[in-house]
Amino acid sequence: MELKNKKVKVLFVCLGNICRSPMAEGAFNYWVGEFGLAEHFEVDSAGTALYHVGSLADDRMRQVATKHGIELHSLARQLKKVDLEYYDYILAMDRQNYSIIKKLTDRPLNNLYLMRDFDKEGSSEDVPDPYYGDLSGFEDVYEIQLRSCEKLLDQICRAKRII
Ligand code: 4NP
Repeated sequence: MELKNKKVKVLFVCLGNICRSPMAEGAFNYWVGEFGLAEHFEVDSAGTALYHVGSLADDRMRQVATKHGIELHSLARQLKKVDLEYYDYILAMDRQNYSIIKKLTDRPLNNLYLMRDFDKEGSSEDVPDPYYGDLSGFEDVYEIQLRSCEKLLDQICRAKRII
């Protein structure tokens, strides 16, 4: 019974925690809400760098998310070593951050995945960093996260036997 009530903890990680990972957090929560599964999940995002700690998501990312009906409220924080133990699923937004995360510990990380593993439509293995580009890059990130998070949620629900 106790196991059945345990929340699945999901963490999205990019570099700054102001563009890709807050959008992924918002998109995942969107699908969780659509399927009425909020009681089963604890969701957060973090960055491997600390440049933007305490900031809301980038204005351009929030603008695009709002346009699609998703509000991003999270404040940036830096990934901590304890997160690696705490979360059941850690989704790295690109290969660079994947390898930074791996280097934080000596033990194998069976809970670490690349976000694009859940997006078979994409040709790249990375969610592209939109920070230095124009608004179209933020639209691309929204589309990728929405697709990937729907697949991710489906896989987690199957693995954890949620509904
Ligand atoms: P994110 O994007 O990793 O998707 O949040 C970036 C945000 C900030 C910077 C780089 C990428 N920056 O260099 O400040």
